[in-house]
Amino acid sequence: MEREAAVPHVLIFPFPAQGHMNSMLKLAELLCPADMYITFLNSDHNHQRLLRFTDAEARFSHWPKFRFESITDGLPDDGHCSAESTFEMFNTLESITRPLFRDLVISLSHPQQEIPPLSCIIADGIIPFVIDVAEELNIPIISFRTISACSFWAYFCIPKLIAAGELPFQGDMDVPIKSVPGMEGFLRRRDLPSFCRAEELNDHVFQTVLSATQETTRASALILNSFEDLEGPILSEIRSRLPKLYAIGPLHAHSKTRLLEQSLLSSLSANSLWEVDRSCMKWLDSQPPKSVVYVSFGSLAVVGRETLLEFWYGLVRSGIPFLWVVRSDSVTGGNVNEEIPGELVEATTERGCLVGWAPQEEVLAHPAVGGFLTHSGWNSTLESIYTGVPMICWPYFADQQINSRFVSEVWRVGVDMKDTCDRGTVEKMVKEVMERREELMGSVDRLAKLARSCVSQGGSSRSNMDRLIKDIRSMARSSPKLHPKKK
Ligand code: UDX
Repeated sequence: MEREAAVPHVLIFPFPAQGHMNSMLKLAELLCPADMYITFLNSDHNHQRLLRFTDAEARFSHWPKFRFESITDGLPDDGHCSAESTFEMFNTLESITRPLFRDLVISLSHPQQEIPPLSCIIADGIIPFVIDVAEELNIPIISFRTISACSFWAYFCIPKLIAAGELPFQGDMDVPIKSVPGMEGFLRRRDLPSFCRAEELNDHVFQTVLSATQETTRASALILNSFEDLEGPILSEIRSRLPKLYAIGPLHAHSKTRLLEQSLLSSLSANSLWEVDRSCMKWLDSQPPKSVVYVSFGSLAVVGRETLLEFWYGLVRSGIPFLWVVRSDSVTGGNVNEEIPGELVEATTERGCLVGWAPQEEVLAHPAVGGFLTHSGWNSTLESIYTGVPMICWPYFADQQINSRFVSEVWRVGVDMKDTCDRGTVEKMVKEVMERREELMGSVDRLAKLARSCVSQGGSSRSNMDRLIKDIRSMARSSPKLHPKKK
């Protein structure tokens, strides 16, 4: 009962978190015009939020071969908040979602009405079980990692770090790390992805990330949201172990450029899981050019009240106008607005704007924005690079620790304040970037130009994307459908 499937049908499955879903939806937007069937699998929880807060359904209805599906992430409905529940999800995805995902793949692997059988899965490489299921059911799988090439490579080198005695570590965080090829000159313990700070090698999150990364070698190929001119040397290191690698980023710009060319760009294409407060755009309109520092710590970071106040004092004392995203679930230990010292309230009324969620891509592109105090999430970093906004980095967790090192030491488009957050440091760093912007602007502008050209006609991300589409097509032609492999 073997079938030929000439028209590709791709199942895209992101890890259920804002930054992951966002960039994989951008990938879907790039694949849709290539006239292939796309099934995009969200978690039930995220899907409801996506439908509630965005125009994603209308936007994608333009592509008749695209459809959304959803599946449980295994968490209770009121159990979704920030970083902690993300770690919990590693367990529930494995125990609850895995068998349902397997059933779904089996059902999609048989032709339904006009939809051809599944010919390829593009899954978030951090989801532990997808490669097992794809191998068992004999479906080609491409791994997509939403992180930078530099963090992927550091994760990939963990066995080397362990063998060299560089992991685990304790004590001095400034000790240089020597076992990540290509990063010997500048990487310190504190710059390794935060999971490497685990004191025991059997730490659950550390093991999960380690094994998910090693398993990438079992996938047919790897997709990264990066570009050759940004991470070329590291991409070459990765290619020495995983030759089929497509660097197709920055995905937000790549999809926007293509949609603009086809006159299909919608103003609401942000894929947000929170309600966007656009009032900050009016506030920005009233500010002088390059005068505002934009502050956001992404979708998962949570800080205590004490840390919040240190940032607040630092921002206020810098004297620089600020636009600050404080998510409703991002502060522990009380309501954000409770008992705020009068001087902070006054200064914020005078030169600040706080919102629960901003249209970030638009904010970064606004002429009033001159700097970005960021948690160094990979999407935020790329968005900042693309719009030419220098960064003050306060990495929170995961890949962010290494991204911020590259921002400050390799690309030289910002400063890194990792592992400190006292008001004095915040004030000093914000002033440094905002008042001495010219010193950074040479490299900032250079990188922004490269980011633009890689997604334009003839650019590297464009041609890598064309190659990816071609390879997906050839998988559809050659894929023998479908029987579980005999064990
Ligand atoms: C985390 C990781 O750190 C990131 O590197 C990884 O790839 C995914 O998980 P997150 O905290 O979500 O990500 O940060 P980031 O990757 O920067 O993504 C946040 C996204 O939300 C960005 O696309 C940003 O534009 C958007 N955003 C954020 C808004 O649209 N509005 C906001 O107010 C804040």
